Parts: sequence; C-alpha cells; structure tokens
Amino acid sequence: MFKNGCQSIPDVMSDYLEVIGAGLILKDPTPLGFDYLPERLVARLEVQRSLASRFTSLAHPTGAGRAVITGPVGSGKTSLVRRFCDDVSRRLAGTRDIAVAHINCRNENTTMQVMHKIVAQMDARHPDRGLSSGELLASIRRLVAARRGHLIVVLDEVDHLLRRAGNDILYHLLRIDEDADAEGTLSLILISQEQVLDVLEGAVISRLGASNHLRIPPYGPEELTDIARQRAELALRPGSWQEAHLSMIADTAATTGDARAAIELLETAVRNAEGDGRSELDADDIRRAAKEMPSSIGDGLVDELSLHQLLVLLAVCRRLRRADHVTSGDIDQLYAVVCEEHDVEERSHTTIWKIVKELELRGLISTEVAPVEHGRGRTTHVTMPSALPGDLIPRIDEQIPRRLR
Ligand SMILES: Nc1ncnc2c1ncn2[C@@H]1O[C@H](COP(=O)(O)OP(=O)(O)OP(=O)(O)O)[C@@H](O)[C@H]1O
Ligand SMILES: [Mg+2]
Repeated sequence: MFKNGCQSIPDVMSDYLEVIGAGLILKDPTPLGFDYLPERLVARLEVQRSLASRFTSLAHPTGAGRAVITGPVGSGKTSLVRRFCDDVSRRLAGTRDIAVAHINCRNENTTMQVMHKIVAQMDARHPDRGLSSGELLASIRRLVAARRGHLIVVLDEVDHLLRRAGNDILYHLLRIDEDADAEGTLSLILISQEQVLDVLEGAVISRLGASNHLRIPPYGPEELTDIARQRAELALRPGSWQEAHLSMIADTAATTGDARAAIELLETAVRNAEGDGRSELDADDIRRAAKEMPSSIGDGLVDELSLHQLLVLLAVCRRLRRADHVTSGDIDQLYAVVCEEHDVEERSHTTIWKIVKELELRGLISTEVAPVEHGRGRTTHVTMPSALPGDLIPRIDEQIPRRLR
C-alpha cells in the first residue's frame, strides 16, 4: 500500500506540526510549569527569614513551630512554604527527620479528608477506610514517632476547610503536641489568600500565636520583572527575548501583583511567537498575550461591581476600544453620557475619581499621572493593560439592568 509513493503524504499532511519540538524560543518548558519551584525565590529573603524565625527550635528533638501566612493571589505563599519545607528538611538531614504533608484544602475540605491525606502522605500503604479521627490522629503520632522525626503539616488555602468544617481539625492537630510525651511531633503552617484570622476562633489563634501571622505583600513591577527574568533565563533560548519584554510583562502583571500572571504572560507570548514561526519574541507577542489572558480577570469582577462602578467602567471601555488611554477629564464627560442613556443621576467628580481608584484596586484598569498634551500641568491617564474593553462591554451591558431593578 505504501509502495507507490504514498509515503510522502503523511509528511506533507503533518507540516502543520512543524512548531512542535522545533524549540524556536523555548529551550525547556519545565520552569514555566505550574508546579515548578525555583531554588531561589526572587525578592523574598526577608519573608523567608521571618518564616524561619518561627521555626528556630526545629533542630531540637522537642521543637516545633507554627505560622499563618496570608497574602494576595500569586504573591508566592505556596512557593514560600514549599521552599522553606524543602530547605529545612535538607538542612536538618542527619539531625532530625522532617516529613512534610502539604495539603491543598480546596480539594480536601473536610476534617476526615485532611487527616486521611496527612496519613497517606506519610505512609502510602496505610489503610484509609473506616478509621475515626481519633484513630487517624493516633496513626499520625505513631508514624512520626516511628521515624523519630517531625511532621510539618501545611494546610494551604485553608479558608476553604475552615468555612466548610470549622476549626475542629486545628484543635485536633494542635492537640497532638499538647498531649504528654508527644511534644515536638508536629509543626503547623496555615496559608490563605483572605484574612483567615476572621474565620479562626480566638482559642485557635492564641494557640497558633497571633505574632506568628506573616502578611505577604503583592509584587511590584521590579520584582515581577525579576521573576519573569528568572523564568526566561531558565526556559528560553538566550537572545530570543529582551529586557523590554520583561518590563512589559511586569507592568501588566503589576495591576494585581500576581507572579503567576507574569509567568503565564511570558509563556503565552512565547507560544504566540513560536506559532508564527519566529525565533525571537517581540513586543506585540506580549500585548497579544495580555489581551488573550485575562477575560478571567474581568469576568468575575464585572459581576461584582456596583451600578456606578459599572457606569464608570463602561465609559472607560467605550473610549479604550478606540484609544490606548483615556484622561480623567474625558471620563467625567463619557460617564455623564452613560448616565443619561440609562436615566441615572450622575455622581460628583470626587465620587467618580474614587470609583476609578476602586476599579484600579480590582485590577480592571491602571492609572498613571502624565503631562497634559500641548500645555502645562498634569493629568491622569487611565489604561486597561489586562483586559479587552470590547470583551467587557457586553458583560457590563448585561449587568447594568440588573442593578437598576
Ligand atoms: N518570589 C518568587 N520567585 C520566583 N517565582 C515566584 C515567586 N513568587 C511566586 N513565584 C511563582 O509564581 C507562581 C505563583 O506563586 P504561588 O503559587 O506560590 O502563589 P500563591 O500566593 O500561593 O498564589 P494563590 O493565592 O493563588 O495560592 C508560581 O509559579 C511561583 O513559582
Ligand atoms: Mg497558593
């Protein structure tokens, strides 16, 4: 069947697959992956030291530590703790056997699921059915004692668990260490995006130690540039990218301070460039990536806005469909038109400005002070680096009548 020259057909047919494995820009996809944990975290030395200071007794046979870590999305909470657990287990190898159970409570959100998971991470063959929470606790204690070691339990995104299951699990885990002759069995680290302290009971807070709460700030543009550079150096071919690309990525991601957004932008930009058969990134790849990414940023957020926030955003979007920025004076006028269309009474200039700032805090728009064109003085330029105005308008139009009811 293939003797009559048909062999060349599959080659021709799969020409479109040329980009796969061509590695025009991408040298190694691993450092751009979700789970990749760099050896060195960028710009987090101070926070790392602060976390370590809660665990100074860990080298001692009865030492344990506790910490609660909160910070916005993509501020590196999970990476901080994973890095710490890896580093500290390595550092103490030979002194103390440190086991780590890192549980994501978005997936395991009942007390029993979490306890099972902890036991399973320490002993994969442990029977997982029919045990009570007391028996599971005893198993945890036995497993740690058998290794003469120590267990660090990390409850990541713990707000999901606390909302669903209350504080019980924390009492259980904290009690392991409070029972006689089990001192130093377990360290506990809680991680959450929101103010987890709101859902923690006073008694748990006092056991965890209020001073063990570490607040992590969002990343600024320079830190995001450094994070993007670290990944570019690891994942991309030298010469295929430039510093200017990293700054563009950082400026876009800086609206939320989210390191994940910076890494995703880099990855998408590389995909765009390679898809076009190029071996070098250009600025348009980043712009396209920024526009492709974040309807997810806009989507949920638009649904949460109040009537006047929606009206101001609509005014901004209308102009930004055709222009790259809109000035504060223009927003006042465009907003007045939008209010008239919907038969809504206008708010004052001060309120509009407050709303602009609120929209910026939510990452929907960005503001920058700029000199007035053809004149003196300064004005504010509003841009939308991380969403497409054309995508947001239908969503806003859908929401406004609901607020008017
Ligand atoms: N300081 C840093 N240096 C290098 N990479 C970082 C740093 N901080 C975060 N990252 C990377 O950014 C991404 C998001 O970080 P991480 O998952 O730790 O954030 P998070 O605060 O746990 O986010 P979430 O609130 O969504 O759980 C990861 O790929 C991580 O490797
Ligand atoms: Mg996380």
